[in-house]
Amino acid sequence: MDYYMSAYFHTSLKQIHNTYLTSMGEDKKKRAGRNRTLSITQAETEGLESLIYSCDDLRKSFQDDMIINGDLFDCLDNIPNDFFSLIIIDPPYNLDKNFHGLKFSSMKSDVFEDYLRSWFYKVCDKLKPNGSLYMCGDWKCSSSMQRVIEEKLTIINRITWQREKGRGAKTNWKNGMEDIWFAVKNKNDYYFDVESVKMKRKVIAPYRTEGKPKDWCETEDGNFRITYPSNFWDDISIPFWSMPENTDHPTQKPEKLYAKLILASSKEGDYILDPFLGSGTSAVVARKLNRHFCGIEINKEYCLWGAKRLINAESDKKIQGYADGIFWERNSGK
Ligand SMILES: C[S@@+](CC[C@H](N)C(=O)[O-])C[C@H]1O[C@@H](n2cnc3c(N)ncnc32)[C@H](O)[C@@H]1O
Repeated sequence: MDYYMSAYFHTSLKQIHNTYLTSMGEDKKKRAGRNRTLSITQAETEGLESLIYSCDDLRKSFQDDMIINGDLFDCLDNIPNDFFSLIIIDPPYNLDKNFHGLKFSSMKSDVFEDYLRSWFYKVCDKLKPNGSLYMCGDWKCSSSMQRVIEEKLTIINRITWQREKGRGAKTNWKNGMEDIWFAVKNKNDYYFDVESVKMKRKVIAPYRTEGKPKDWCETEDGNFRITYPSNFWDDISIPFWSMPENTDHPTQKPEKLYAKLILASSKEGDYILDPFLGSGTSAVVARKLNRHFCGIEINKEYCLWGAKRLINAESDKKIQGYADGIFWERNSGK
């Protein structure tokens, strides 16, 4: 076990898995009627296991659309270099966080930056020369991320996602936003399709010229304008229990958020890498939008959730908040 493994992983994988199964009970949690949080029965588990790959499988051959259950430090050398059009990274933040037994502890910024460097340089090697990379963080780890990303890539924007939900604090402002750094290998040659990520917004000031709506349209549901997206995103809620995409992952990202990244920065048929796959959000959105993916996740249960979400995506390609090629406002019912 190398320095980073021993420093950050306090529990063996087997213990994590057993602890998780014990805490959930073999038949999983009982949910309230309208709670659509994904669950997996014991009977389903075997079938889903056959859909996920190990590091050994990867060593034998790299294939399209792999969910790899393993440690990214063991996997990265077996993933091709200069291959992915898009890399989405949602690593553990510099916080005390328990991923069902895999505990991360808050650390000094310089130590966190060394942790980022320990995998980020290799991850960058996987990006095509004209590829794009996004990395998610919160206010506390964001400046560390900026420093480390700039050692390898050119940052061309920082998206602020206003998450809406956050834990209240008595002696501080509650945390209601996250950063998403947008970086490229070559600032003169990268793909960006702004047309695919336009937004439908309610018109507040409905100007008319010669009696006709200016840049907006009247519909039965109200007056709307199709607008270019900015780097401030206030139209996306975190997944919650009544949404079919919801899992028990503690830091799951919304499909709508990843849909924007994927549509803007990749084409159909392109390859997307996610080295911290979690519950499988990037893989699921890639499949719904006809892209290929490769995701690595150390927790087996999370990989199984990802696999089940992929199966569900075969029959339901809907991404909540994205319909008719347009991103709708938060709580629009779309
Ligand atoms: C912030 S979460 C990602 C959540 C994901 N974006 C989603 O929507 O579900 C980070 C994930 O990285 C995983 N992880 C942490 N260290 C890892 C490692 N060395 N190799 C692979 N996965 C790791 C954790 O188990 C956790 O699920």
